[in-house]
Amino acid sequence: MIDLRSDTVTRPTEAMRRAMASADVGDDVYREDPTVRRLEEKVAELTGKAVALFVPTGTMANQLALMLHARPGDEVIAGKSAHFVNYESGAGGAWAGVQFAATPRELFTAEEAAALIRSSAYWLPRTRLIGIENTHNMAGGRIFPQADVEAIAALARQHGLGLHLDGARLWNAAVATGSSEAVLAAPFDTVSVCFSKGLGAPVGSVLAGSESLMEHALRFRKMLGGGMRQVGILAAGALFGLEHHRERLAEDHAAAARLGDALRQLRGVIVAPVETNIVVAEVESSESVVAAARRLGIAFSAISPRVVRLVTHLDVSGAAFSTAVDGVVAAFREAGHA
Ligand SMILES: Cc1ncc(COP(=O)(O)O)c(C=O)c1O
Repeated sequence: MIDLRSDTVTRPTEAMRRAMASADVGDDVYREDPTVRRLEEKVAELTGKAVALFVPTGTMANQLALMLHARPGDEVIAGKSAHFVNYESGAGGAWAGVQFAATPRELFTAEEAAALIRSSAYWLPRTRLIGIENTHNMAGGRIFPQADVEAIAALARQHGLGLHLDGARLWNAAVATGSSEAVLAAPFDTVSVCFSKGLGAPVGSVLAGSESLMEHALRFRKMLGGGMRQVGILAAGALFGLEHHRERLAEDHAAAARLGDALRQLRGVIVAPVETNIVVAEVESSESVVAAARRLGIAFSAISPRVVRLVTHLDVSGAAFSTAVDGVVAAFREAGHA
């Protein structure tokens, strides 16, 4: 099976597994795991933040950010289809106790965010935070324009709001734009990044921010059950991904562009602009296209009745990727897109 459902399906390479097996470890609840500390220091430096904290998942990193910036009853402004609102099992309402106001578009402007900021009347929820996703998963790996990020940051400062970056795929945005992660994350108070997506590690994310915010994050992480022990084994996989798989994300982007171009030739298929490693295409029937692909040994996702998503990653490259493109095109044709 050629699996293009997500970049989370990658399996650790032999070299990554060796790095994990031989990692130096200690008890990280006592903050004594040298590999975790090394990873946290490296990510703090890469994102330009004072302190970084290792967590098991991107979900936990995002949820910690909500807990840091808001109190129960507060409101958070989030882009349409934001992961931390829609795909984290309702955690924001359950743990941070917040409610959300969604912008009309995934990649939104400062004006669209401003329209959602509440007045300070005591009977209204308090607006406390704006969250941005870069790259934006459900928008098809689109890059959030940095000029808009800066305008939204100015708005947040003007209203005393926090600003969080869901940077699960910030590595992809950095490679695609040529701007460093630190530059892209500079306007934000907190940033989450993932190692288990394009970087190919089996587990791991980080939340980074100021010293004072991250002191609270350490306590909240423990409350959520994210205080782990000899977890350098996992941090070593993340470090390996950072050191060996970051630059090569450009290959995934080129592969996605090629796939997008091939699908654009087919009748009745509308392909969204491909900016990184995700291809989103509108079709007659997602179900028929996905089923036809399955019969040919290829998996990708139906994200709505008429939209499919295909994600490129390091486990489908070279000759296997050429086979994948031919197979995907054949499946689309079989489903009526000649
Ligand atoms: C944009 C974005 N944020 C956060 C997450 C959550 O990451 P995890 O699956 O590690 O909880 C994902 C996962 O796909 C994601 O795409």
